[in-house]
Amino acid sequence: MKPQDGEPERSGLTLFVYIAVAVAAIGGVLFGYDTGVISGAILFITGEFGLSPTLEEVATSSVLVGAILGAIAGGLLADRIGRRLSIIAASAVFLAGTGFVVVAAGLPVFLVGRVLIGIAIGVASFVVPLYISEIAPSALRGGMVSLNQLFITLGILVSYGVDYLLSASGNWRAMFAFGAVPAVILIVGMFLLPGSPRWLMSRQQPDRAAAVLRRVRGTRDVSGELTEIQKSINVQKAGSWSDLLAPSIWMPLIVGLGLAILQQLTGINTVIYYAPTIFQFAGLHSAGASIAATAGVGVVNVLATVAAVILVDRAGRRPLLLVGIGGMVVSLAVLGAGFALGGTVQGGNLLGLITAVSLMAYVASFAIGLGPVFWLLIAEIYPLNVRGRAMSVATVANWTANFLITLTFLTLAGVLGRAGVFWLYALVGIVAWFFVLRLVPETKGLTLEEIEEHFRAGRHPRELKGVPKQY
Ligand code: GLC
Repeated sequence: MKPQDGEPERSGLTLFVYIAVAVAAIGGVLFGYDTGVISGAILFITGEFGLSPTLEEVATSSVLVGAILGAIAGGLLADRIGRRLSIIAASAVFLAGTGFVVVAAGLPVFLVGRVLIGIAIGVASFVVPLYISEIAPSALRGGMVSLNQLFITLGILVSYGVDYLLSASGNWRAMFAFGAVPAVILIVGMFLLPGSPRWLMSRQQPDRAAAVLRRVRGTRDVSGELTEIQKSINVQKAGSWSDLLAPSIWMPLIVGLGLAILQQLTGINTVIYYAPTIFQFAGLHSAGASIAATAGVGVVNVLATVAAVILVDRAGRRPLLLVGIGGMVVSLAVLGAGFALGGTVQGGNLLGLITAVSLMAYVASFAIGLGPVFWLLIAEIYPLNVRGRAMSVATVANWTANFLITLTFLTLAGVLGRAGVFWLYALVGIVAWFFVLRLVPETKGLTLEEIEEHFRAGRHPRELKGVPKQY
């Protein structure tokens, strides 16, 4: 084991690295807030702009189209101008987009703003985990990168709260304007933070990389870690898109793409975006009851993600995925059964209860595994020379699958029935469980360079076992 692994590394850890990670993770708030805020705002926008149901769908999903574009552009950006500047650029685009949305007098300007916001979220969604993974010490990397997901869930929760508070006045512009607050904090914060040491090394700036490492590791001697990074750079040239076709990247690409798609096709965003509608399906017709239940979903999402942040470096990535996906399958099956039995349950109360409990269990199971661990693993399993580009490919797949699920949910619920659509997600969950069992590596405690070395040697992901004991 090299000196930067395990105890010696952590004992010298500075407060600075925690601050750096927390600031970067504010990118997660942008992601969460702006994907959540539309659910409450859309009612008023539809009224003011006189939107047909189709245009309402366009207004809602435009942010996802932007995110796909941002995820495509972000790969090149992160490898070229660096992780830190990419996050700053994304926040600036985010502010511009918010400006358009807030002043929009009609749908076209509103859409321009939402697509810009989407582009920013698409970039930030993976460049933030990437930046954090490259400054974090290996023993704490899982929890630190997952802080991004925790901030996503907080952003979603805050957006539900802001929507609720502002719904009395119907001030949808203010709902969006709030999103500017974290964006400004992120821009200022990232200006003050240093660049990623690994990216600096890949740009032949060893002195600056060493200075950053000294600050975040709290030790003067960072030569061991620098040598490791340099060694991995020596064996590969500066990356290009075609390098993604190298045989040693196939398996990590399959793992990243598979998790990206399965994270979405198990249906999480139908709940995040349509929770009130689902509760209405189940008979919670009063606005108060469905708002309370939706807030409950947001809180459960945050709390279970806290558990994931704490556990991911102790239990490891695979156990969280397997337990979490298992829980999702069971709760989706029960949720479907609740709907299937709906006709025979008198009054809807029991059905309402079953729905609420199984929906919460489903969200908790997602939040402990697939939610954070997907974003974490794609920040860990690709070699430095193409890390930004490879993450961008997985991220594009994630946002595209998100878009498809969001667009098809209501139609599918009509065609397959309410029970059928959740059972369908449960089936996808079973596929996801076996996918993880057979293909997903354990990266706990390993340095990014050790992981890279494993795949360069052409070895199977499952042979990567992590560092057994961390605490
Ligand atoms: C993950 C997913 C995102 C979802 C969120 C919910 O970040 O990638 O699509 O909205 O979790 O917590």
